Amino acid sequence: MKAKLLQLLLTMSDSYISGQAISEQLGCSRTAIWKHIDALRKEGYKIEAVQNKGYRLVFTPNLLTDHSIQATLATERFGKKVIVRDEVTSTQELAHQFAQEGNEEGTIIVAEQQTAGKGRLGRKWYSPKGTGIWMSIILRPSLAIQEAPQLTLVAAVAVVRAIKNVTGIEASIKWPNDLLINDRKVAGILTEMQADPDRIQSIILGIGMNVLQEEVPEELEEIATSLWKEKGVQVDRTALLAEILKELEWFYDTFLQSGLQFIKPMWEAHARGMGERITARGVNETVTGTALGITDQGVLRILDDKGNEREVYSGDLDFFHTDR
Ligand code: BTN
Repeated sequence: MKAKLLQLLLTMSDSYISGQAISEQLGCSRTAIWKHIDALRKEGYKIEAVQNKGYRLVFTPNLLTDHSIQATLATERFGKKVIVRDEVTSTQELAHQFAQEGNEEGTIIVAEQQTAGKGRLGRKWYSPKGTGIWMSIILRPSLAIQEAPQLTLVAAVAVVRAIKNVTGIEASIKWPNDLLINDRKVAGILTEMQADPDRIQSIILGIGMNVLQEEVPEELEEIATSLWKEKGVQVDRTALLAEILKELEWFYDTFLQSGLQFIKPMWEAHARGMGERITARGVNETVTGTALGITDQGVLRILDDKGNEREVYSGDLDFFHTDR
C-alpha cells in the first residue's frame, strides 16, 4: 500500500492529488492514507498538504527502501520481490540463503551497508552506509555451467546503459567485471553460482556501485571513484537501481534467447583497452599482447608477442597506456 501511494505521489508530483482521489484509486480509507503519509514524512519525504487541493510530493530522500524501489520499478520480473536491509555482512550471502530456500528468479536483496562486502577473487568490497547500490539478484537461467561467466559481461553492458540513461556518463568496461569512469572503478560485478554437477541451480549476481561518496578512502583514491565525484550531483539511488534492473532484465532475456552474439559488439564498443597492449593475469598464466576482443563465449582474445592468438578465461587486466 505504501509503495502504491508513493508511486501515485511520484507520478502526480507536478500537481496536487486529493485524499478522496487517492482513497478511490487505492481502495483504502482516508485514515489509512494519512497514516502512510505520516510514515513517509518520518522517512524524510516532504509532502505538502493544502486544504481543498490535496497532497503533493515535493522532496524525495535518497534512500533505498522496499517501497521506494517497488514504486519506481519498470520491470516485468526483476525486483518484484525486494528484500531491503539496513546492514548485512554481504547481500551475496543473504541471496545465497534466499536462493536455497527456493525464492524465485528476479528476487533482489539490497542493503544500505555491508560489513563484509565481497569482491571478485576473495577481495573486499568497501560498502559504506547510504552511499552506494549494494545489490544481489537471484537468477535461474537454463544455461550450461560453462556458459555462466558470460552473465558477467551481459550485466556489465546493462549497467553501462543504466549509468548512461540516468546520468549521461559513458562508463567503460574493464574485462571482465569492472566499470570505469575516467579509468577509475565506479562499479563491480560478482557472479557466483549454486550448481549440481551438471546443472545450474541459481546464479547470484552482485552489483556494487559507488554513488554518493564524496571521498573514497585514501588507499583507493587512484583506482576508485563515485558518480558524485565524477558528476557532482547526488544521483537518486532508487531511480538508478530501477534503471539497472530494467536494462538487466532486457539484456538477460535477450542473452538467453539469442546468446552473446548480439550483446558482444556492444560490450566491445564499451570495453577499455581493446586494440591496445595489455597484460592479462589469468589463474594459471599471464599473457601480454594486443587485446583483440572477446569470443562468442566471452573469453578474452589476445594476440601475444609471438604472434599467437591466445584466450584468457578469467583474471585481471593491466593497461600500459592510460589517459590520465
Ligand atoms: C568486484 O569488482 O570485485 C565485484 C564487486 C561486487 C560488489 C557487490 S556489492 C553487492 C554484492 N554483495 C557483495 O558482497 N558483493 C557484491
